[in-house]
Amino acid sequence: MNADLDQLYPAHLAEVRSRTEAALEACGYDGLVVYSGQPTMQFLDDRPYPFRVNPHFKHWLPLTDAPDCFIACVPGEKPLLCFHQPADYWHLPPALPEAPWTSQWKVEVLREAGAARQALSLDGRRMALVGEARQFFADWGFAAINPPELLNRLHYQRAVKTPYELECMRQASATGARAHVAARDAFFEGASEFEVHLAYCEAAGLREEELPYGNIIAFNEAAAVMHYQHLDPRRGRPRRSFLIDAGTEFRGYACDITRTYAGADGEFSALIGRMEALQLELCAAVSSGTDYRDLHLLAHRLIGGLLNEAGLIDCSAESAVEAGVTGVFFPHGIGHLLGLQVHDVAGLARDPTGGEIPRPAGHPYLRLTRQLEPGFVVTVEPGIYFIDLLLDAARDGAAGRSIRWDAVERLRPFGGIRIEDDVHCTAGVPENLTRDAFAALD
Ligand code: GLY
Ligand code: MN
Ligand code: MN
Repeated sequence: MNADLDQLYPAHLAEVRSRTEAALEACGYDGLVVYSGQPTMQFLDDRPYPFRVNPHFKHWLPLTDAPDCFIACVPGEKPLLCFHQPADYWHLPPALPEAPWTSQWKVEVLREAGAARQALSLDGRRMALVGEARQFFADWGFAAINPPELLNRLHYQRAVKTPYELECMRQASATGARAHVAARDAFFEGASEFEVHLAYCEAAGLREEELPYGNIIAFNEAAAVMHYQHLDPRRGRPRRSFLIDAGTEFRGYACDITRTYAGADGEFSALIGRMEALQLELCAAVSSGTDYRDLHLLAHRLIGGLLNEAGLIDCSAESAVEAGVTGVFFPHGIGHLLGLQVHDVAGLARDPTGGEIPRPAGHPYLRLTRQLEPGFVVTVEPGIYFIDLLLDAARDGAAGRSIRWDAVERLRPFGGIRIEDDVHCTAGVPENLTRDAFAALD
């Protein structure tokens, strides 16, 4: 498995370098320094929050637990990694990496972060820094820190994944699928939300802080809370429904997967079946040249049809979309770019220099408005939910007149449904990373 990655990495690095060099030239810099970041201390305490590395840093190399490290990219020079390995007997200092990717780098070991100033050869060069700014950078002589015109270019290009990145995302998906199956089994064996979470982490082989986002593990009504963050430890509660939105990370690349299960056969499980068919239809529509806003609006029309067929509304799909009825049940975007970050950057970017492609009017939460290209990885995550806040707001308005409130009351105790896959847009048939990963387990 890693042999492939070792073979793919040099071309990935060459691509990141060439994109970066073009961006540096366009912005008038001699080179780029990327700072990995530092752990943030808790207020009035000597303990840090979990460290999350600068995503720009892990784009270059597969180090995610490496605070106070620096990368320098200067055209014509071998890329430099200043690896921070403090003399510290309170913590285990990070081991110097020895994997094959290191042969592509000049590696210098630093005992303290300030020594990077010398090692990076900053004097006499217009170097841009990307990373969290630290106080002591002030007199290092950077030409700019996080200049927007440079960031815009780097972020825009990141949507197109290299073969190495796609392979990392396949690996993340494989682990995610395995952990999802363990979580599902735990649910049906009677585990609490918290125990399902533990089963997930154990099967993924990841600590909670290594997950790309907090697991959403919701039973019953809690499935209506988009980013439900509580892990209820109580056993023996009713088990009408189970929504799990959980990912994993591999070499800094994320997967983002959601599944919904019914505790027993009935109206809600039939609704999940309909949603599954609808979601697969949307996944198949991920194609080069597609405006992602159109995919989002297609999702609304399909959900309008589903609501009508399921007896939740009594108007047509078209009028449900127009009158905002579908938005009561499906209040988020159909998906987003995925990669080094779960909600990856530049989803609205008009072009490499900046600017925004607006969201469709009335759809404030859509995170991706670009036209899809081969190499993009996007999520496709339609859902319907029974959200008290939105239903109460709709009840007395025009939208409320189309809603079949008796059906809503029957389904409200199930919370909601979301099904989410990660899909790689190609020049032809899309690659569904998530479905492929589940299928490979069978
Ligand atoms: N897990 C967050 C999302 O699906 O966007
Ligand atoms: Mn998502
Ligand atoms: Mn998700």
